[in-house]
Amino acid sequence: MTTRILTGITTTGTPHLGNYAGAIRPAIVASRDPQADSFYFLADYHALIKCDDPARIQRSRLEIAATWLACGLDADKATFYRQSDIPEIPELTWLLTCVSAKGLLNRAHAYKASVDKNVEAGEDPDAGVTMGLYSYPVLMAADILMFNAHKVPVGRDQIQHVEMARDIGQRFNHLFGNGKELFTLPEVVIEEDVATLPGLDGRKMSKSYDNTIPLFGSAKQLKDAVARIVTDSRAPGEPKDPDNSHLFTLYQAFSTHEQEAAFRAELLGGLAWGEAKQRLFELLDNELGEARERYHALITRPADLEDILLAGAAKARRIATPFLGELREAVGLRSFREQVQVASEGKKKAAKAARFVSFREDDGFRFRLLDAAGEQLLLSIAFADGKAAGQVTKRLQSEELDLHAELNAFSVRLDGEAVAYSPEFSTDTERDAAMQRLREALAPQE
Ligand code: TRP
Repeated sequence: MTTRILTGITTTGTPHLGNYAGAIRPAIVASRDPQADSFYFLADYHALIKCDDPARIQRSRLEIAATWLACGLDADKATFYRQSDIPEIPELTWLLTCVSAKGLLNRAHAYKASVDKNVEAGEDPDAGVTMGLYSYPVLMAADILMFNAHKVPVGRDQIQHVEMARDIGQRFNHLFGNGKELFTLPEVVIEEDVATLPGLDGRKMSKSYDNTIPLFGSAKQLKDAVARIVTDSRAPGEPKDPDNSHLFTLYQAFSTHEQEAAFRAELLGGLAWGEAKQRLFELLDNELGEARERYHALITRPADLEDILLAGAAKARRIATPFLGELREAVGLRSFREQVQVASEGKKKAAKAARFVSFREDDGFRFRLLDAAGEQLLLSIAFADGKAAGQVTKRLQSEELDLHAELNAFSVRLDGEAVAYSPEFSTDTERDAAMQRLREALAPQE
């Protein structure tokens, strides 16, 4: 069985070397595993929560899309899309919002941090807090639950969000699943041995510390950034301590074991820092050179990137659209047209609704007939379009039923052709009882 791995990348910045080593490179390696079914997407709705600069949002989406493809993500194998191209996601967000406890969201770290900061500053606790920030975890739960992801690789700061997705999914299953797991409950994956790279000043490489090395700047920009790496003041010829040098840590993240051993020996032997920087620059330039060319080629063809992402969205929606249909059904947002009344036993009991549920699959449109308890009575053959399926459901409700026992199941025919089948039963008696229930369910109302 394949494992569905899903993760989102918030589109507010330009990828740097730390993002590459910590997230992009391992994710692309993971997506090549034949057992993996990877869903990687640009979390651009999340980006809107943090950023109100349209130009920056647009630039970042383009840069991040080009970066992942340039680094070798195979968009035919993985499903690579923009969150904002999947309208089912905001729709699911609302369904989930309606079952998410406010108390749960009150505990979200990001929201709490804003409140604490406000309180400390003597401001209103919710000053500057938008509903977007507050509901951030629900949108993220929709991203994850929409595709029934098994595993969600994220940084430590996102663990709580994945746990909330589990909580919300579980609650929805409990309320609307009828004993069935509508949503797969996701598991968080923290890659323990993935490199957190130090930045120029030795602290974690991060945009907020302004200590990053750009991933796909020009060779000159790369060289300039490497030149700004802070080192100690040991002179050329003096032995350097590799284990206390973040320049060495950066080198390690990209070198083979032999390269690493050789560099260590050179540093211990008194290699000048200037030389050491030149070594690191060459290593990085080598590792990134080809990808950088691909990146610049992609960036100059935004229309091609658009096509790739739209194809990814179409692929994702082949899952999201029918699944959201099921979820709408589950919460009670159902078509009136497909509703039929079960004949009541005796006239006193209120009639219970059996219902037709239509859905789309790869081979066409089908419908199910469910009894009042949600038990399946019939599953139709595939029809070319929704209209053809609808006509059949209409005729089944108005014409004499033509049922045929077939081994341990039965079919329903129209004009002599089977249009729907019952589930399989273990005995003839059960089968015959089901035929009777179906007749009652579809009997015209007086
Ligand atoms: N919130 C994540 C981050 O900032 C990005 C993200 C959005 C995400 N939706 C997701 C990650 C779903 C994993 C799964 O890093």
